[in-house]
Amino acid sequence: MNSVSAAKLDSNPSTPQRHALPAWVYGHPDLTRLEIERVILPSWQIVCHVNSIPRPGDYETLEVGPESVFVLRDKDGSIRAFHNVCRHRGARILDGAGNCPATITCPYHGWSYRQDGSLIGVPMRDSFPDLDRAEHGLRPVRVDTALGFVFVCLSGDPPPVAKTWGKLAEELAPYRCEEMIPLGPITSDVWNVDWKIAMDNYLESYHVPIGHPGLYRMFTPDYEDQAAVPGVARGLSWMREQPSSRWSERLYQSIIGKAVAHLPEKLRGCWRFYSALPNLGIDVFPDQIDFFQLLPGGPGKCIVRGTTFGLPNAGRELLAARFLSNRINTQVNNEDKWLCARVQRGLASSSYKPGPLSNIEGWMYEFHNLLREKIPEFRLAQAPKQFA
Ligand code: FES
Ligand SMILES: [Fe+2]
Repeated sequence: MNSVSAAKLDSNPSTPQRHALPAWVYGHPDLTRLEIERVILPSWQIVCHVNSIPRPGDYETLEVGPESVFVLRDKDGSIRAFHNVCRHRGARILDGAGNCPATITCPYHGWSYRQDGSLIGVPMRDSFPDLDRAEHGLRPVRVDTALGFVFVCLSGDPPPVAKTWGKLAEELAPYRCEEMIPLGPITSDVWNVDWKIAMDNYLESYHVPIGHPGLYRMFTPDYEDQAAVPGVARGLSWMREQPSSRWSERLYQSIIGKAVAHLPEKLRGCWRFYSALPNLGIDVFPDQIDFFQLLPGGPGKCIVRGTTFGLPNAGRELLAARFLSNRINTQVNNEDKWLCARVQRGLASSSYKPGPLSNIEGWMYEFHNLLREKIPEFRLAQAPKQFA
């Protein structure tokens, strides 16, 4: 820790000691539904990048609990979002990602919809004497973009995404996120941990020196996981002068400056971690960016969804830097997965009582406050008989 951070952390000794959430909230079978309804669905969720769906008819789906939505590029170039639910008898229409060249056709009885969602084709139309086609278009979903990412919101009325991420547009402008292209398909990994354990882990850098030795060998964590703008915190790590003892880390340190000559010099050795409540992380490395989204998957399970994006036409050095950065981050990811699974197991023990939180875990505490606000039972030491 550098002395500036140390001074800041010690500057408010009178703050009452904060504690972690009670263990029961990390494994209660009724909570998944409530968390999806009250926390996840009323917030903006990333579906993909604008360049994940560049051509008319390109689509990408997102599953959140019982909900399924897709975003699709219309022939006029606009991006639309719809519930992925047929208006006939409710069949799921699209899977994963792909292209619907002309119409979006349900695989069950073949109802088909235009790219603007209007119902166009109904096989055996005469067998529906009173059907009003205009009343049976796909149900639209609110959609918005920021930093090149396509977001949807399934309920509630949060302010436009630009209100949050737009405030970071200036500091992120040199990276040209909007011009980036996907470097691989979006993947969904299942972790055997509650989504909140994974999010807690992402929201604090207190664990970095011990939990991520590679990251710590290469970078100085700033321990400032505080809100950069309302709803989004930023952590910064600066590359150390000292070469790492590991070849892949050392090689990355030595080539990155040349590989990303498009960036201002001071950003070439900086790794930036943005975390947005309630469940999103965007990592901005000099060579590429990634997002990951934590989705509740039932008690003790979550889905970690995401992929990486980078500027097109990368030269040899940039490709090498990305290879190394993926290698380093795969290790970090495995470490996080391993640590989170250990927390999940520990919380199941009757001996555990919520432990004290460091000031460095303040952003995580803000996350817990959001959860307490949305689901007041989170304040209870024991699980309630039923939820309000
Ligand atoms: S459920 Fe889609 S056409 Fe019947
Ligand atoms: Fe971590």
